[in-house]
Amino acid sequence: MRMYDLITAKKNGREHTREELEFIVNGFVNGSVPDYQMSAWMMAVCLKGMTDQETAILTDVMAHSGDMVDLSPIQGIKVDKHSTGGVGDKTTLVITPIVAACGVKIAKMSGRGLGHTGGTVDKMESVPGTRTALDQEEFFAQVNKIGISVIGQSGHLAVADKKMYALRDVTATVDCIPLIASSIMSKKLAAGSDAILLDVTCGNGAFMKTVDQAIELAQKMVAIGTHNGRNVAALITDMDTPLGHNIGNSLEVMESMEVLKGRGPADLTEVCYQLAVNMLLLAGLGTEEECRAMAEKAVADGSAFEKCKQMFAAQGGDISVLEDYSRFASARYSREILAEETGYIYSHDTEKIGSASVLLGAGRLTKTDEIDFAAGITLHKKTGDYVEKGQSIATFYADDEALFDSAEKMFKSGLVIKGEKPVEAPLVYARVTKNGVERFY
Ligand code: URA
Repeated sequence: MRMYDLITAKKNGREHTREELEFIVNGFVNGSVPDYQMSAWMMAVCLKGMTDQETAILTDVMAHSGDMVDLSPIQGIKVDKHSTGGVGDKTTLVITPIVAACGVKIAKMSGRGLGHTGGTVDKMESVPGTRTALDQEEFFAQVNKIGISVIGQSGHLAVADKKMYALRDVTATVDCIPLIASSIMSKKLAAGSDAILLDVTCGNGAFMKTVDQAIELAQKMVAIGTHNGRNVAALITDMDTPLGHNIGNSLEVMESMEVLKGRGPADLTEVCYQLAVNMLLLAGLGTEEECRAMAEKAVADGSAFEKCKQMFAAQGGDISVLEDYSRFASARYSREILAEETGYIYSHDTEKIGSASVLLGAGRLTKTDEIDFAAGITLHKKTGDYVEKGQSIATFYADDEALFDSAEKMFKSGLVIKGEKPVEAPLVYARVTKNGVERFY
């Protein structure tokens, strides 16, 4: 077999066999397929697509390129969750303690920030002392003892994805449905949970810009999971505006704790409930109404917040910051961002808000950059809100005043203020399961 012929086959739109996909993926991992041939092949996949069968085989080959975690030493049903990424997307910090407080085991591996989007592991590390690299024995023991652990993804999981993603990031081959589906599902299958809830974000801050694209991606991922014996569902959620008001690591932890204390912003709270309910449904804990009541009770009686504190404490975190936010390290400087005209915020490019937050130090511009946990943005006005000229739309936080100008320029370049109020977008557009698509709007 020659890689040259396989690139030509995909360029001509031919479907690959399992042997061919093994040759490509394993060859790339062991170095016999060089980066330039892999890039050419992935571009051909972007342009010609893949059949469902081909995508499922590619996912399986990628999952088996590293460790396949066996979660059987953990008793009970293990439910995982994955978001395709967003800005201010802090739902994992809220829903995993809610679901664990309802008795479902959470043994979750999460990622770091990517591009303009944040990552759960970075957010967790903003709580001083928190360890996100536990060995397998400690990880399993913690889940068996308190029902929950969220850690960073092991470097040995879906090794092919790690290498392929790094190449896709620099060869304009990220926004390709079969490659995204196989990337996400290879990691989720390798991570070993019985059931998986996918949060497929859609809008100007997400990889999928339209609801139809998001549904197509969700259907592919649900089919791959189902084919591999996992119980999978997906919610299509809105990312045309950031979730909640805070963007940045410790800022997002504070806002998540507010939701767990029952006083979080309405949009974030509702999306978290819907995600938590669907995780409880996947675990078979009852009807939708029963699962909603369980999730709301876990917040109202404080058991979800208690579970969250137990998790951070077990991983070495200083949980006093979760009670008293003033104990978080704070940014040295802040700047108010003022509206330049009066009217409604008609739209605000979410990717640009995320990029502004990265420029303030909340994310990485290069792989080796250190994150400033206190940096970020608090939004006072979001899409649909009325604002007077000179009123503050947002507060920026950074450790260096010199960062404010470029971040403000980025933030304002995506802001549109008009005399008319925009149509309100739904928070959750649809649910995709193996039984089909339910649209909620
Ligand atoms: N998240 C992933 O893990 N992979 C992708 O390809 C896109 C988003």
